[in-house]
Amino acid sequence: MQRYKDPEARDKMNPFAEQEAWEEHQIGKSKLQFGSKDRKRYSDDYQYVFEDGIDFVKSSVIEGTQHEEDSDQEDIDEKDMLKRELQDERKTLPIYKFRDELLKAVEEYQVIVIVGETGSGKTTQIPQYLHEAGYTAKGKVACTQPRRVAAMSVAARVSQEMGVKLGHEVGYSIRFEDCTSEKTLIKYMTDGMLLREFLGEPDLASYSVVMVDEAHERTLSTDILFGLVKDISRFRPDLKLLISSATLDAEKFSDYFDSAPIFKIPGRRYPVEVHYTKAPEADYIDAAIVTVLQIHVTQPPGDILVFLTGQEEIETIDEILKHRTRGLGTKIAELIICPIYANLPTELQAKIFEPTPEGARKVVLATNIAETSLTIDGIKYVIDPGFCKIKSYNPRTGMESLLINPISKASANQRAGRSGRTGPGKCFRLYTSYNYMHDLEDNTVPEIQRTNLANVVLTLKSLGIHDLVNFDFMDPPPSEALLKALEQLFALSALNSRGELTKTGRRMAEFPLDPMLSKMIVASEKYKCSDEVISIASMLSVGNSIFYRPKDKQVHADNARLNFHTGNVGDHIALLNVYNSWKETDYSTQWCYENYIQVRSMKRARDIRDQLEGLLERVEIEISSNASDLDAIKKAITSGFFHHSSRLQKNGSYRTVKNPQTVLPRWVIYHELVLTTKEYMRQVTELKPDWLVEIAPHYYQLKDVDDTGTKKLPKGQGRAAL
Ligand code: CDP
Ligand code: MG
Repeated sequence: MQRYKDPEARDKMNPFAEQEAWEEHQIGKSKLQFGSKDRKRYSDDYQYVFEDGIDFVKSSVIEGTQHEEDSDQEDIDEKDMLKRELQDERKTLPIYKFRDELLKAVEEYQVIVIVGETGSGKTTQIPQYLHEAGYTAKGKVACTQPRRVAAMSVAARVSQEMGVKLGHEVGYSIRFEDCTSEKTLIKYMTDGMLLREFLGEPDLASYSVVMVDEAHERTLSTDILFGLVKDISRFRPDLKLLISSATLDAEKFSDYFDSAPIFKIPGRRYPVEVHYTKAPEADYIDAAIVTVLQIHVTQPPGDILVFLTGQEEIETIDEILKHRTRGLGTKIAELIICPIYANLPTELQAKIFEPTPEGARKVVLATNIAETSLTIDGIKYVIDPGFCKIKSYNPRTGMESLLINPISKASANQRAGRSGRTGPGKCFRLYTSYNYMHDLEDNTVPEIQRTNLANVVLTLKSLGIHDLVNFDFMDPPPSEALLKALEQLFALSALNSRGELTKTGRRMAEFPLDPMLSKMIVASEKYKCSDEVISIASMLSVGNSIFYRPKDKQVHADNARLNFHTGNVGDHIALLNVYNSWKETDYSTQWCYENYIQVRSMKRARDIRDQLEGLLERVEIEISSNASDLDAIKKAITSGFFHHSSRLQKNGSYRTVKNPQTVLPRWVIYHELVLTTKEYMRQVTELKPDWLVEIAPHYYQLKDVDDTGTKKLPKGQGRAAL
């Protein structure tokens, strides 16, 4: 909720507040000028802008064969032509030469580690080779991806190559979206989804091959999958395991999988010139924009890929670039801007793969997804500001945060490599060579060592894995974090004091949600408001994209939003009000426009809600509605989120809308804490402090919630919360 946000923090999040003012000033001028405020270091000539960097990839150059276009297909109809073209294209991929050798290795060994440069064809080709070699006759081929977008886009590509409808022979499965059918033979899925499949099929009997792709990413789910697939491979000798990775440190994977052989696919890689800035950049967003424009007007044809940290940044740069190039009119060639990030609607995702028209230049604004998960052809220039969003977790306070952090050297090198796939490339690092050498870590810390483990612990417990300390982790999580997760699950009554799964815990594990959300849903049975609670859970799961606030209509948007808060009901109930109002209009798109609500997010919420309703049935919780009893709904929420309670202080950090003066200390429950320069709470609802004692007596005592004094926060509470 906007009003709880710390405005200072928000401005820090939006480094363009100042930038925009400057923008206005610049845009009035007609001559090409990319000067950066008072910094005049940039000139039209790159020599002045970037000093040449250390000798980077030149020594590991492998010249590859160039793909030649077919030209004799005029009279074949378009679809056949596309399929044929794609088939020809498949043969030009670096992996093609190793097809038979690879299949032989798969036949011979149960586990293989496969290493190959991004774009060599691992993700799209290997599952097809396995299909062609008959493996799918024995069971499905699974290929896991750390990212939803990658799973979807790769499945779409492969279905095209095979000339089948997406969701038939080739499908994908991501959380809340299953695009597979009875027919599906090749299934791309997020690593998290395969993890969940273990719950229903502990030996993965319906699969003949599991390919854990992008293993180098070391996501939490991938790391857990390692342990599980390694375990089942022992009693399922017919199951083939492929661990594929884009980086060269494959020995670690091989060691873990009992010295599995490593299959290397020599990549096609051209030299990449790495350029560094002379001095550190104060504002990498500004520097990135300037660099895009400078490449555009000074460099030969070739597309640009910019690595950014998230949707917000991408959207802002998108806007600024459009604004600026519009100002330049026909003086420069067309610049096609293509954003790509996880929440980008599917129909827009395809745009990044469309070939760039003659005379134009494409600039892809991407999150880390373009580092190894997605291959975009035609990229010749990479701009690397050197940052990404990294999740970190403090097991002591239980606080999770997503902060912008410097990338690792390994990431920087992956990013640079994106420019040299189809020809010699250039990578512009918006940091100094000194920064690169001295400030960047070699590798990113695996997620398992910097995240809240409650979800994973619940999943493992439901799989009957009790001894977590001795679970075969490739890199074990900190024992403090493991303990904290057990504690949290115990407090949620998902585990008993012996650490065993309770009935509540078993029910919670059915929901593909964070344990706090699952608990809130399971608790709604008691308060007879499951109907309302799953609507709230769906709206929360959609994330922060329900409302929109166009710049020129902010007041209207804010007023529309306030309507849902009538009676100061709190953010959770407001979300429910939004959902129910939309439902009353028969899911009207027009209504969404009128209320500054994103119809796409609402549709997604409805989708998620349908699935949660199905899951309620599965855990035998009746759908019951109790719309008039807001306290009951809030109590159900509190049952899941009592860890996230805070008492608001008298220092002005909390003000109600109706009474702008500071109010008495009050208690609220929040959905999440967002850590920027300060912490602020997102989705906040007021509650009665005695509920905490009533609902979580093992966690709160009366003295903790005594409102009269200024006692310290209850034991176990993140102090940082306020
Ligand atoms: O997995 P790896 O990075 O080794 O390569 P890949 O993802 O299988 O990509 C091989 C080729 O498929 C790339 O050169 C892309 O041109 C193409 N591809 C595509 O056009 N569209 C996608 N969604 C994915 C791949
Ligand atoms: Mg891949």
